[in-house]
Amino acid sequence: MRHGNGAVRAFCQTAASGVCHTDWAYLFEAGKGMQMRPFPLILGHEGAGVVESVGPGVSKFSPGDKVIPLFLPQCGECECCLSPKTNLCTKNWTKTQQGVLADGTSRISCKGRQVYQFIGIGSFSEYTVVLDTSVTKIRDDAPLDKVCLLGCGVSTGYGAALNAAKVEPGSSCAVFGLGAVGLAAVMGCKAAGATRIIAVDINPNKFEKAKVFGATEFVNPKDHNKPIQKVLAEMTNGGVDFSLECVGDVAVMRAALESCRSAWGTCVIVGWTELAELTLAPYDLLLGRTLKGTYFGGWKSVEGVPRLVDDYMNQKLLLDEFVTHTLHIDQINEAFNLMTRGESIRSVIKME
Ligand code: APR
Ligand code: ZN
Ligand code: ZN
Repeated sequence: MRHGNGAVRAFCQTAASGVCHTDWAYLFEAGKGMQMRPFPLILGHEGAGVVESVGPGVSKFSPGDKVIPLFLPQCGECECCLSPKTNLCTKNWTKTQQGVLADGTSRISCKGRQVYQFIGIGSFSEYTVVLDTSVTKIRDDAPLDKVCLLGCGVSTGYGAALNAAKVEPGSSCAVFGLGAVGLAAVMGCKAAGATRIIAVDINPNKFEKAKVFGATEFVNPKDHNKPIQKVLAEMTNGGVDFSLECVGDVAVMRAALESCRSAWGTCVIVGWTELAELTLAPYDLLLGRTLKGTYFGGWKSVEGVPRLVDDYMNQKLLLDEFVTHTLHIDQINEAFNLMTRGESIRSVIKME
C-alpha cells in the first residue's frame, strides 16, 4: 500500500468497521439488484480509524488524528457543496463508485494486481488510503468501535427522518425495515417528537430492539391477509404523516408510499437498490403525497459526522444499542451469515 504522488490523501489505520447490508449486496447481488463493481474489491464503508500518515499537500490532518472515512465526500467547492439544499458532493463520484481514487488508481495491490476500494474506502482492511475530502476528524475521546456506525447506517437512517422527511412533533410515522438503518430512522422520528412510530418488519425478532429506539407500535406484514398499506391506513385513520423505507425493495417502497396519507403524507426512500425499477400510481402523488429519496441522511459529511459523534458522546444519540456482535476481521464471513440469518443488527469488525 502506498500514498502515491501528487493528489492529496490520508493513510489511515482502520480500527473498527460496521458491516452494512450494502457490503453484502455488492458481493451477492452484483448484476441483480446492484451494478457490477470491479474485483478484487475490499468491501467495508462504515469504518473509523487513526491517521497513520498524510500525503503531500494535506494540511487538515496529522498522524494520530481519529477519523471516520466518508463514502460521500464534502469537498466544499462543488456546486452541491456550495448549496445548502443538498449534501450530494459530486467530487470524484464516478471514480469512488468504481473503487478507485481521484487519479483512477487504488493505492492497494496484492501480488502486483490492483485491489479496488469499495466506494473509495474499503474499511475491511487494517489500512486504507483515502482522499482528504473523504475523511473527517473526530474528537479524541470517541470510541472507534462505536462511532464507526456513523460512517453509514446510523447517520443514514437518523438523518432520513430529521433532514429528508423532516418529521414533525406530534406526527405519526411508519418505518419499514428494522436493520440499523431503520432503527436509526426510528430514533430520528423520536428525536423529532413523533407521537406514533410504527415499526414494520417481516422478522418479529426485531421489534424488541425497535422499542429501545422509540417505536410505539409493531406490525409484521406476514400477520395480515391484506396489504400492509391497508393495515396502516386502518390503524391511523387514513395513513401516516411520514413513512420511511429502509429495506431497499421496490415493492416495499410502493407500500411505504401508499401507507402515508393523501393530502400531505411524505414517503422517504432510504434503502438502496440500483437496477430495479419502481412502479407507482400517479394518482397517489396527485392526491398530495410527496415521494423523495435521500443519501447519507442528508448530512454534509465532513461537518455533520463530527457533530453526530458529539451527540453520541453527549448521550443524545444511541450507538451501543446497535452493536449486537463484535468480531475479528478473520470472522468477517460469520458477520455476513449473522446478517443474512437476521440475527444481528450491526456486527462491528475489529482489526486487532
Ligand atoms: N417488509 C418489512 N421489512 C422487511 C422486508 C419487508 N418486505 N423485507 C426485509 N425486511 C427487513 C429485514 O427483516 C431486516 O430487518 O428489513 C431489514 C433490513 O435490515 P438489514 O438487512 O440489517 O439492512 P440495513 O443495514 O439496515 O440496510 C437497510 O439500507 O443502506 C441500505 O443497502 C442498505 O438497502 C439496505 C437498507
Ligand atoms: Zn463537493
Ligand atoms: Zn452502508
